[in-house]
Amino acid sequence: MTLIREQDFGTKARPGPATVRVRVDGRDVEVAEGTSIMRAAATAGVEIPKLCATDSLDAFGSCRLCLVEVDGRRGTPASCTTPCTDGMSVKTQTDKVQRLRAGVMELYFSDHPQDCLTGGNGHGCELHDLADTVGLVDVRYGQPETHHQDAAKDISNPYFAFDPAKCIVCSRCVRACDEVQGTFALTIAGRGFDSHVSAGQDQPFLESECVSCGACVQACPTDALQEKTLIQLGPPNRSVLTTCAYCGVGCSFKAEMQGDMVVNMVPYKDGGANEGHSCVKGRFAWGYASHKDRVTRPMVRETIEDPWREVSWDEAIAYTATRFQEIAAQYGAGAIGGITSSRCTNEEVYLVQKMVRAAFGTNNVDTCARVCHSPTGYGLKTTFGTSAGTQDFASVAKADVIVVIGANPTDGHPVFASRMKRRLREGARLIVIDPRRIDLVRSPHIEASHHLQLLPGTNVAVINAMAHVVVTEGLMDQAFVDERCEDVAEWAAFIALPENSPEAMEPITGVPAGELRAAARLYATAPNAAIYYGLGVTEHSQGSTMVMGMANLAMATGNIGREGVGVNPLRGQNNVQGACDMGSFPHELSGYRHVSDPTVRELFADLWGAPIHPEPGLRIPNMLSSAIDGTFRGIYIQGEDLAQSDPNTQHVTAALMAMDLVVVQDLFLNETAKYAHVFLPGTSFLEKDGTFTNAERRINRVRPVMKPVTGKQEWEVVVEISAAMGYHMAYANESEIMDEIAALTPTFAGVSFKKLDELGSIQWPCNEAAPNGTRTMHVDGFVRGKGHFVETAYVPTDERTNRKFPLLLTTGRILSQYNVGAQTRRTKNNTWHPEDVLDIHPSDAEMRGIHDGDWVSLASRVGETTLKAKLSERMPPGVVYTTFHHPVTGANVVTTEYSDWATNCPEYKVTAVQVTPAPKTKPLIMHQVPLESTLVEMGSASAGVAGRRA
Ligand code: SF4
Ligand code: SF4
Ligand code: SF4
Ligand code: FES
Repeated sequence: MTLIREQDFGTKARPGPATVRVRVDGRDVEVAEGTSIMRAAATAGVEIPKLCATDSLDAFGSCRLCLVEVDGRRGTPASCTTPCTDGMSVKTQTDKVQRLRAGVMELYFSDHPQDCLTGGNGHGCELHDLADTVGLVDVRYGQPETHHQDAAKDISNPYFAFDPAKCIVCSRCVRACDEVQGTFALTIAGRGFDSHVSAGQDQPFLESECVSCGACVQACPTDALQEKTLIQLGPPNRSVLTTCAYCGVGCSFKAEMQGDMVVNMVPYKDGGANEGHSCVKGRFAWGYASHKDRVTRPMVRETIEDPWREVSWDEAIAYTATRFQEIAAQYGAGAIGGITSSRCTNEEVYLVQKMVRAAFGTNNVDTCARVCHSPTGYGLKTTFGTSAGTQDFASVAKADVIVVIGANPTDGHPVFASRMKRRLREGARLIVIDPRRIDLVRSPHIEASHHLQLLPGTNVAVINAMAHVVVTEGLMDQAFVDERCEDVAEWAAFIALPENSPEAMEPITGVPAGELRAAARLYATAPNAAIYYGLGVTEHSQGSTMVMGMANLAMATGNIGREGVGVNPLRGQNNVQGACDMGSFPHELSGYRHVSDPTVRELFADLWGAPIHPEPGLRIPNMLSSAIDGTFRGIYIQGEDLAQSDPNTQHVTAALMAMDLVVVQDLFLNETAKYAHVFLPGTSFLEKDGTFTNAERRINRVRPVMKPVTGKQEWEVVVEISAAMGYHMAYANESEIMDEIAALTPTFAGVSFKKLDELGSIQWPCNEAAPNGTRTMHVDGFVRGKGHFVETAYVPTDERTNRKFPLLLTTGRILSQYNVGAQTRRTKNNTWHPEDVLDIHPSDAEMRGIHDGDWVSLASRVGETTLKAKLSERMPPGVVYTTFHHPVTGANVVTTEYSDWATNCPEYKVTAVQVTPAPKTKPLIMHQVPLESTLVEMGSASAGVAGRRA
């Protein structure tokens, strides 16, 4: 494959049909009203020289290089800022405009170094390319003593450099930061000849507000802003289209290569999820794939005290298969199982669950989505009939009111956050419901209309109170609910009860009733109101209840079934949606069909040639508890670091230690691998062929840019283990796996690699009625028929503060790191977040004699760890916050076993803790209370959880 060069039309496309007819240099073209002459010319195949214009930004009209002549008009208008009118005739190459352009170019070159040959996008300096185009032969101006060519370079950012000498002050970078990214980190400072690009207050990039998204680098037409990899390695010679393997936004990228070496990742303009934008992780943090810590050979050991022994693939596969067979023979098939990974492709996930069901002979398969978005699946399926978000990302551009609940999009889902911020700058109103004052509450040109700063654990109380206002103040969309929903009257009677009023809930939630009423009215009366939510909703003992509460509110106000509305989970990992779709849950086969349904079982059994057990298998928490009980003894873990990411670390490690066989398939020797007997080296996204499904249900292609450094694809390993256990699967390639998924899964009907390559991506459901996929769900009716209102009584969590543990800990993640940090910690992203810290309100800190940067002990009922304090007013008094990116901190040492009543999703977001000063030197060893007392706590927790209902 050669380099993919995307055409730059110079200005943005205008919506609407092509109704305006224009002639450019004798070529006729029809364009939408408002289209610039520059874009019309490019559409007709006529390239007009440009420097300040690019089609990701609004036209600016500063460089005067794009001048044209228009028949019947005086002067030489700038083609980038002049809209076409019907019948217009444009000439782009007259002597007059050529002369003017050459004059402009001469001025630019009078202060531009001659060695600027490869622009920031790696495809050449546009200024030099244009010099030939406009016929520049000589530069008569320029005084060595007054030029900018000695200006100091800024190399502070780990990934890109700024060389002011090469800057032509076209302002594309400034506008990219404002318009595309929405961070407003750059300005043009100074005047006239002294004009220059300034990050922050003339600071180095690294010290400014810059979030390192790279949009400015991509926009720069010269070498002034350039990736350091390009400076070191030179320009690429081929590109491969693929998908980011970090968060659930699912950005499309061109991996730009020199042979088998990646030199650059460039966001793809036609990527449906990102439309040419990216964040610091996707664009820059891909170096982990070739990190020295990568394990590339399989390893085996008899006990976890033994050293690892490198073995051949054949030996590792035979050992794994034999050990699983031995355990199953001795204890039954129910004693083994597997966990699929939301970081792997749909095809890889599908095969692991197939292996567990068909080769292991059990439904003991679960996915790491259990610990993040399983309540989304339950809640949205119960109310709407589909375990997925309702909208595509582009839908937010039609929202008039945006509600963000328990999510921090600027850190967790940055490219979607940029879209959202664009809409907010256009005037949409914002309601943030979160204990933390996240960036969106107030950032440049954005201010939330309402920030409902609730206490952790009171989401359901808040959503019920909002619904109470809607019902009791006559704000329901009666026509919508009458026509499209069921069980409305019962729900409305419940929600109207005085105990659900904002006033009654205020002492529980901490949210002033007046503020909550105003927010509810704003949401209910907007033409289009959309809800976006994250793990701050799901990771609670009432996670599923809250999802249903949001669905109730959206249905009650008619905010479902069109663009600009909906209930939208922001998925954490790249393929959370896909891992769930692929049948990874113990009770569901692909497409969310219950294993108890004989018709469904027969369908799979016929194609697979193996019976499917009619009873659901064990969930992750049940597997772990059963391991401690001695009834679950062997596990296959695909790409999940249970020992770091799951709650109550000591319980997890005790369970792992109790098992006879722990098989880990991963890139690195992670925390879980410390308890493993077999390590099967995995492949990075740069080596995989397959698909990921993002938060919009968009199935995106992942294409390999290099051969697997392990010598085998992960799916091939699964096929071989399965065969060694006596169950044979036969696929020539990943494409055939997708064909089988499509044949068995109604929502994937007709999906194939060929079709994905043709269309770019497909949003499921894809079927006969929607052969190219579905952007917006539930348009004419709900997938389940009628939308189902569910009564969502607020039940406080059993995790309570008391004198010993008076603070509430909530957890989250930050922009530069990703989950347990296995990938991002092995990149220069560590520059921004080298360790986890504890955010604590100054008043809580003062009360405890804690200063900014002090080491503190963070203790809960189940464990204790040590980390540095950061004084922050983002948290209300009484609430502390940390991340879990670094194993040395072990934040999950303190999180409890409480979980969502419906799905067992852990309650990561509410832990009662105490914070006390710790010794000045860092005690690296974290510790927990003895296992016995942990189990006692778990016992009481289980009893409490079992008693909860919606
Ligand atoms: S850094 Fe690049 S994009 Fe920014 S003003 Fe200079 S030349 Fe233009
Ligand atoms: S990297 Fe992104 S945030 Fe930083 S200055 Fe450039 S556009 Fe702005
Ligand atoms: S927003 Fe998510 S998918 Fe996009 S580049 Fe960043 S981490 Fe990757
Ligand atoms: S490209 Fe039109 S004025 Fe710069």
